[in-house]
Amino acid sequence: MNLDGAKTLVTGGSLGIGKAIAAKLIQKGGSVAISSRSADNVNAAAKELGANGIVGDVSQEADAIRMVQESIETMGGLDILINNAGIGRGAPLVEMTREMMEEVFHTNVLGAMMVGREAARHFVAQESGNIMNISSTAGLKGFARGTAYCASKFALKGMTECWRDELRRHNVRVTLVNPSEVQTGWGGRKIEEINPKKLVAEDIADAVVGILEMEDRGFVPEFSVFATNPF
Ligand SMILES: NC(=O)c1ccc[n+]([C@@H]2O[C@H](COP(=O)([O-])OP(=O)(O)OC[C@H]3O[C@@H](n4cnc5c(N)ncnc54)[C@H](OP(=O)(O)O)[C@@H]3O)[C@@H](O)[C@H]2O)c1
Repeated sequence: MNLDGAKTLVTGGSLGIGKAIAAKLIQKGGSVAISSRSADNVNAAAKELGANGIVGDVSQEADAIRMVQESIETMGGLDILINNAGIGRGAPLVEMTREMMEEVFHTNVLGAMMVGREAARHFVAQESGNIMNISSTAGLKGFARGTAYCASKFALKGMTECWRDELRRHNVRVTLVNPSEVQTGWGGRKIEEINPKKLVAEDIADAVVGILEMEDRGFVPEFSVFATNPF
């Protein structure tokens, strides 16, 4: 697709990977709406990028519905959803609480489903669209302390496969993106404490933009991005 003039909603677009994707799509000539829970962060990022800022929590159904509606109204349409908002909580199984599991699932699974559903209703009606679900290599292989996060990303992979089968019949391209570790403040980490040979947010943004730019007749169902030599 031609990204010049494309209209995109990036959930979790105030920081990290979502912000980098929003920046690249604007550089390509697109209009972008970004959403996140913190009004300060979303407004600051929107001003810096030249995006439309929407304050909202993807895990709240009314917010999920409103963020898609507002995106369509402010940009005059919607062509791409970057379903990126996500959180992580790490703990060994023996210390896991029901609350930790619910918190992660409310954003990473229910939130992704509700925003995806709202965008899909619009895309089916217009018989075109693109959904990129930002998952993780944690959605491909589990690891110690990953019960909540890995389970949520495995669930996102499962939902993506269902949406792909349903929506490609309406010319909607659905892609799962699996980054390995990226140097962001995700999960409360300090960026300066992450191995500097790991990926940066712009690497994921470059990959997402390249895949979207493929002609609409084709799409990439799923791709993973690894740091070349983080050892
Ligand atoms: N960084 C990594 O190593 C890595 C690797 C693989 C996959 N990923 C995935 O990439 C995505 C982005 O991660 P990141 O590293 O860029 O994280 P980040 O820097 O922490 O950014 C996360 C963004 O999501 C927003 N957000 C979180 N919960 C939300 C909610 N319920 N509703 C709306 N917005 C919400 C945050 O803003 P507010 O807090 O203001 O809401 C923020 O804008 C996530 O899905 C993550 O699982 C990250």
